Amino acid sequence: MCGIVGFSSHSQSACRPLVNGLLRLEYRGYDSAGVALESADDLRVFKKTGKVAELDRFLAEALPEPERGKYTLGIAHTRWATHGLPTETNAHPHLADGGRLALVHNGIIENYAALRAKLEKRGCVFVSQTDTEALAHLIATFDTGDDFMAAVSQALKQVEGTYGIAVLSLRHPGEMIVARRGSPLVIGVGEGSTVVASDVSAIVSYTRQVIYLNDGDIARVTPEGADVFTLDNVPVARDVQQVEWDAASAEKGGYAHFMLKEIFEQPEALRNTIRGRLDRTDGTAVLAGLNLPPRELATIRRAVVIGCGTSLHAGMVGKYLFESLADLPTSAEQAAEFRYCNPIIGPHDWAIALSQSGETADTLAAVRESVGKGALVSAVCNVVGSTIAREAGRGVYLHAGPEISVASTKAFTAQVTVLLMMALKLGRTRRLSREAGLRLCDEIAALPDLVAEVLKENDRIAAVAAKYAAANDMFFLGRGILYPTALEGALKMKEISYVHAEGYQAAELKHGPIALLGRATPVVALLNDVPGKEKTVGNVQECRAREAPVVGIVTQGDAAARHCDDALFVPRTSAACAPVVTAVALQLFAYHVARLRGCEIDQPRNLAKSVTVE
Ligand code: M6R
Repeated sequence: MCGIVGFSSHSQSACRPLVNGLLRLEYRGYDSAGVALESADDLRVFKKTGKVAELDRFLAEALPEPERGKYTLGIAHTRWATHGLPTETNAHPHLADGGRLALVHNGIIENYAALRAKLEKRGCVFVSQTDTEALAHLIATFDTGDDFMAAVSQALKQVEGTYGIAVLSLRHPGEMIVARRGSPLVIGVGEGSTVVASDVSAIVSYTRQVIYLNDGDIARVTPEGADVFTLDNVPVARDVQQVEWDAASAEKGGYAHFMLKEIFEQPEALRNTIRGRLDRTDGTAVLAGLNLPPRELATIRRAVVIGCGTSLHAGMVGKYLFESLADLPTSAEQAAEFRYCNPIIGPHDWAIALSQSGETADTLAAVRESVGKGALVSAVCNVVGSTIAREAGRGVYLHAGPEISVASTKAFTAQVTVLLMMALKLGRTRRLSREAGLRLCDEIAALPDLVAEVLKENDRIAAVAAKYAAANDMFFLGRGILYPTALEGALKMKEISYVHAEGYQAAELKHGPIALLGRATPVVALLNDVPGKEKTVGNVQECRAREAPVVGIVTQGDAAARHCDDALFVPRTSAACAPVVTAVALQLFAYHVARLRGCEIDQPRNLAKSVTVE
C-alpha cells in the first residue's frame, strides 16, 4: 500500500535518502512513485508510473549530481491506486498554490468529492482524479503565508477519513509538516538530519531513534527533529524510542527473494518468539503482555480472535487451541465483518487482534469497537510500536523480525506459536494439568528444530512443485485444526503464483467442490498423523477416484504416503503443533510453483503488504 518518505537536512541532498526510502517501501506494493524536492527558492516534482528504479533513472537524468546538492528538503511517495488510474498525473506528490505547495498522502479522504466541488467553485483547478489533490488545495486556501502548521491543521479539521501526510510549501522554506489519523507515520531523528516514513523499515538505515506519531498528531519537522502538537496547537510529548531492527535484517541476505529468506528464518524467528516464555517448572507460559491475575483470566467467558488474511487463518487455528486446551468458547472473525456486524462483545469477552503489521485498517477498527464495548482487548503483533499494539494497550509481540515479502510466512508460524502459549497459559488457570502443560512446553520448545527439518526437504518440495506448476486450479484439504492451514496453503498459492487455489474442510469436498475435480486439478491433502487422519485418507480416495492427483503432507515414515501421488514429509508432532510444521511445507510448495511460473514473488500483482485502507 502507499508509502511516504520525507527528509530534512541542513547540508545533505534529500534526493538519495528519499529514493532509498522508497526502495525500502517497495515491498508494500505500489504502482507509481514520485518525489518533491525543495531548495530555498525552488520546488520541483518528479513522478513515474511503475517501479522506483524508473523514477531513480529519470531523476538521474533530470537532476544530475551537482544540481542535487541544494535540495536538502523533500518528500516522496509510492502510490497504490484507490482514486483514479495508476498514471503519472495521479501519482503523488500533488501540487497546489500554483506549484508552490506539494503534498503526499496515505489513506482515504472520504469527503473529497464535496471538498473538491467547493474548491472548484473557488477557482481551484484540479488535474488529477485523486482524493489527495483536494487536500493540497484545501491547505493552500488556509495558508496566509504566516503559520504553515496552523494552515495544515485547519484543513485537516475539515477532512473525513484517514490520512498520513507530509507537506512542503515554498512560502515556508525549510519547513515540513507531517500529520496522521489512521495511517502510520514515524519520525527518525538522526545526526543533522530527520527522516519521516510511513514504515520504520525506510528509516533504520539512517537512524534507530524514532518517534511514533499518534492519531491526531501534527508535527513540524526540521533537521534537528520534530515538534509534535495536536490539531489545536497544544504541544504533546512523544518519546524517542529505540528500534530493535537493524538495516541488515531488512535485506535479502543472499536469498533470491525475501519470501524465501523469511521462510528459512523461521527456526530463528520461532526461537525468538518462544524465548523466555515457557515455564518448565509449572508447565505454563509466561507472557508479560498478558499480566492478568489468574482470577481475572478465569472470569473470561469467551474469546474472539480477529484478523485478516493470514492473520485470520492463524486466529482460526487459535480457536481450536483455546477450545481444546483451555475449554474457552472461541470464535475467529474476519475483522471487517466483525466491525460492521454490531458484534456482541463486552466485559468478560476477550478480543485478541492478530496483525503482523499492526496497521491493518479493519483490524484496527475492530480493536476500537472492542475497546469501546468494554471487552478485554489484547494485540498479537509483529511490528513493535504499531498502532494496533499501542491502542490495544496489552498484548504479545511475535519478535519474528521484519517481514518484507507481501506473502506472510514467518508471521503465521509465530502467531500460531503465540496462540499456543496463550492457550497453554489460559488452560493452566482452568483444567489443563501440570503434566499436560509440561508436555506442551516440550512440544513448543521443539518447534524451531522441527521447522528446520521441514526446511531440509526444500529440494524435494521443489521437485514435487515442478510436477504441478502448470496447473490452473488446485484444492487444499484439511480437517479440524489443520483446516485453517489448508486455507493458508491455498492463500499462499494464489497470491504469489496466481494459480486458482481453494481451501476446504476435507469433509466438505463431497458437498459440491468435488464436481470440479479431474486430472487437471491437483489436490493437496493435509494427512499429518493426528486424530482424523484416517478420515482424510478416505477423502483422498474420493479425489483419486476422480483421477485428481494428490500431493499429501505426510508425517515422516507414515503409511499415509502410499495413498498419494506425491508426499511432502513433515516431522511428527502433536495436533496442536501440526499447523506450524505443515504451513512451512506449504509455503515452500507455493514458493517453488510461483518461481517456476516466473512470478514476481515478493511483490505480487494487486497486493499490498499492509492494507491500511478499508
Ligand atoms: O499485517 P496483517 O497481519 O494485519 O495483514 C493481514 C493481511 O493483509 C495479510 O496477512 C495478507 O493476507 C498477506 N498478504 C498474506 O500473505
